[in-house]
Amino acid sequence: MIIDRRNLLRAGTCLGALAFGTGFSRMAFAAPASRRVESLLARMTVEEKVGQLTLYPDEVRPTPRPINPEINAQAEARERAAFQFDEVRAGRVGSLLAGTGVQLGRKLQEAALQSRLGIPLMFGADVLHGLRTIFPIPLALAASFEPGLAERTARAAAEEMTAVGVHWTYAPMVDVARDQRWGRVAEGSGEDPYLASLFAAAYVRGFQGVNLRSQRSVAACPKHFAGYGAVIGGMEYNNTDLTERELLQTHMPPFEAAFRAGALTTMAAFNDIDGVPASGNRHLLTDLLRDRLGFKGFVVSDAASAEELVAHGVAADEKDAARQAFDAGVDVNMGGGLYKRHLPALLGANAIGIERLDEAVRRVLTVKENLGLLDDPYRSLDPKREAQEVRTPAALALAREAAARSVVLLRNQGDILPLKAGRMIALIGPLGDDAANMDGPWAPWAKTGDAVTLAQGLRAELGTRHLTIVEGCGIDAPIDGGIAAAVAAARAADVVVLAVGEGQDMSGEARSRSEITLPAPQQELAEAVAATGKPIVVVLSCGRALALQGAVRDAGAILVGWFLGSEGGHALADVLTGRIAPSGRLPVSFPRTSGQQPYYYNHKSTGRPQLPGENAFFKARYTDVANTALYPFGHGISYAPVQYGPVQLSGETLPWDDDLKASITLTNLGQRPVEEVVQLYIHDEAASVTRPVRELKCFEKVRLAAGASRQVTFTINRAELEFIGGDLQLRAEPGRFQVWIAPSSAAGTSAAFVLSPLS
Ligand code: BGC
Repeated sequence: MIIDRRNLLRAGTCLGALAFGTGFSRMAFAAPASRRVESLLARMTVEEKVGQLTLYPDEVRPTPRPINPEINAQAEARERAAFQFDEVRAGRVGSLLAGTGVQLGRKLQEAALQSRLGIPLMFGADVLHGLRTIFPIPLALAASFEPGLAERTARAAAEEMTAVGVHWTYAPMVDVARDQRWGRVAEGSGEDPYLASLFAAAYVRGFQGVNLRSQRSVAACPKHFAGYGAVIGGMEYNNTDLTERELLQTHMPPFEAAFRAGALTTMAAFNDIDGVPASGNRHLLTDLLRDRLGFKGFVVSDAASAEELVAHGVAADEKDAARQAFDAGVDVNMGGGLYKRHLPALLGANAIGIERLDEAVRRVLTVKENLGLLDDPYRSLDPKREAQEVRTPAALALAREAAARSVVLLRNQGDILPLKAGRMIALIGPLGDDAANMDGPWAPWAKTGDAVTLAQGLRAELGTRHLTIVEGCGIDAPIDGGIAAAVAAARAADVVVLAVGEGQDMSGEARSRSEITLPAPQQELAEAVAATGKPIVVVLSCGRALALQGAVRDAGAILVGWFLGSEGGHALADVLTGRIAPSGRLPVSFPRTSGQQPYYYNHKSTGRPQLPGENAFFKARYTDVANTALYPFGHGISYAPVQYGPVQLSGETLPWDDDLKASITLTNLGQRPVEEVVQLYIHDEAASVTRPVRELKCFEKVRLAAGASRQVTFTINRAELEFIGGDLQLRAEPGRFQVWIAPSSAAGTSAAFVLSPLS
């Protein structure tokens, strides 16, 4: 199916125009608060109201790792679980975070029902790509270019979450990430706002399902609102330097898509925007989020992000931070009880109004009501489901399918892949048989050792007779004799599979890197193995695009394996042996060097563009590296070459209120079936503000049998040409546009058309 905004609208997925601020509001629960919510509100004391706005880390149910050690430490003075039960019974807490488990979940819920008004708790957790069944990291899933696949994995994750007592996930992470030094690239859908928007909506649909009140649905929380992907220098928790136009044009569309898909909550970001931290930014959280975007759910702070207004230097003390965050629009405080400590006094001093307090509580109760918690506090707390519905065969099969479809083949010189039967394979590298590094940075509930490694996958596929496995070195440390053993294994083999890359804790939160290269011991290993002259297939583990160097960059075949989750090893073996043809495409550009960051395909031209093939001096460029990516956004090949014919347009003009068809004929020139991601890009040749050199507008994943040809047609209309103008409003401008239908953002054939003015 062609994935463009028209189809999405037709399919009822409510994505609409992807540029921000079109003024629609189609929230799933946009109705005013119910009578029940109003009647609860009328009976609540200030302390109980503030309780609903308080979210603590769960101290009763074991959390897999301290979510925020500082906050946990604050509670250490008392017996933490007992303290939490007391708080819940007193109605001083509305939600808990990161705990799982039905038995204790029911006990907590019992305690909540014993509180004066018996308002149930809501249990949240950071389930971004699976809880016990781990699906590929979101960046990997984006590489599938199949939002429908992300929707299915989110649905399966929701089923698992609700089997162990979770009602609310802090996902999807929808930050557009254009700087690969930022560790959190792994959690999102890459550098392109359009692709990220399709995935954002798909995740929300998957998590929330068609019926929120079902035992199997969870509330989604697209995060981090907003601009977090633009942290300066890719450094975690840094500030941003964003114009409002850029914020609206690039960073808002995935949020808008997620809200239109019905997301019930959102999370305020850590970073500042134009000098005001997001978690105390009234313009962002009220003018843009509520008034412009029409969001009706509640806003939760990030972990202690409201408290951090003090460290940012905009709040004098904690109390001031609470006032600013609450006034700006942060409804719920995730952290150590900031609101509990300060909102009552602020209210007493008239520093905040009772209307604002009621509004925030109303929003929280409405989400609880929408989830069915007010009717059935024990929803999703069923011991039978907990025993039977975790890591089910169906979920694991989906994890394998999703993983295989997320793999990206960057290069395949001399058709090294697929691996030929009967040849001797040396699997070399620290990531070849390391179950602790298959899941990625956000899988704290997965059991170490549950994931299938590449070695296990290859053994299952090929047996042991033709396979030797050598570690060679650690992820970031040499092993005594490791290189010698690896070289000997390579010499004795016909082909080397080199499993190298990042360990799973090298990307994710707080994992920014200034050099996005392979750790030195692995590079050394690769050079030594390459010196044997044996053909090499690199299988790369990574949570971001890497700057590949030397023997890794020059290997005959390179497969990007990201972090693929529970079934990663099986899926990689499926692709390496050719049982499944690779069909993923890069959602982030792989640069030539770390110093090119931020590098993204949809950059502006500048006044002195270095044109392709040119090497002129007074141009926008670095003197020591080409301006191009090593592998651009959208790139990926399969096991057969695909030829793109010329772009055919249905006319030279796109009338203001009509559409234009752009077609191409594709031919599979090889002996194997392929799935090709056909991509349509547009460039506005002259606009009132500078526009990207290319922008992805739609794509289609097409199956082509060996030798087959097929025509693919896209429809372009004015909405595809819209952008945020100097007046911060969405607009299209008549004029000439270039269109490419292409296998990547740096290839393809093009044609031009004119958008004619409204006559
Ligand atoms: C992260 C959020 C996460 C929260 C709760 C924070 O440090 O930035 O993405 O949802 O912790 O775990």
